[in-house]
Amino acid sequence: MRTVGSTASERRSAKVSGQAGAHREVHAAGLPPHMPIFVLDVGCGIRKQPGAIGIDRNPASHPDVLVDLDKFPYPFADDSFDRITAIHVIEHLNDVLRAMEEFHRLLKPGGTLRIETPHYTDYSSFCDPTHKNHLNSFSFRYFGPKHGGFGYYSEARFREVSVGVKLLSFWKWLGFEFLVNHFPRYRRFWEHYLCYIVRGKAMEFEFAAEK
Ligand SMILES: C[S@@+](CC[C@H](N)C(=O)[O-])C[C@H]1O[C@@H](n2cnc3c(N)ncnc32)[C@H](O)[C@@H]1O
Repeated sequence: MRTVGSTASERRSAKVSGQAGAHREVHAAGLPPHMPIFVLDVGCGIRKQPGAIGIDRNPASHPDVLVDLDKFPYPFADDSFDRITAIHVIEHLNDVLRAMEEFHRLLKPGGTLRIETPHYTDYSSFCDPTHKNHLNSFSFRYFGPKHGGFGYYSEARFREVSVGVKLLSFWKWLGFEFLVNHFPRYRRFWEHYLCYIVRGKAMEFEFAAEK
């Protein structure tokens, strides 16, 4: 483990090399199947995704590279990764838009991004004082085709592949989770009118980088 990125040239030129991050599940769009797959697990903690390069700012988590995700740029070259996973991390960061732009820079065209994060109505969103962002299932629309009407927020573009919402068990059992996940208009209705009662738990987003 070492800290990379102490100089500007080191940060920009660091290349992903070797097989440490090779992973054999998903390729960025259009890449031949024999090529190794590089996965970056940001904020990996102690449960790094198998085969991924893990980055975290906490040395106790023994990441492959010590990186503070609030400092930009991250120490990898453009278009380095086929996939980035951010599992219960984005809610900890100072600047969600800037981090998303950095994920976009690091992904190959068509590379995929998985984000898992609490829904803001869940107990876990507010019980952890290190959470700085409290998000809902539309929080990443600014990177999509219609930009939520605020396309000028960022030039990074992601295609939304899927959004999954988990609700508290009681509401799942009553069928609300099925409705929220199978009918986008119902999900909007739920976010606007119901979610303070029919409370969410966690969200799982899959995006593809458009470049
Ligand atoms: C809730 S843990 C999730 C860990 C892991 N992804 C998992 O699913 O088990 C959040 C992780 O994000 C890391 N983290 C929070 N803020 C960070 C930052 N600014 N830079 C790097 N890592 C950060 C923490 O050190 C911690 O390991």
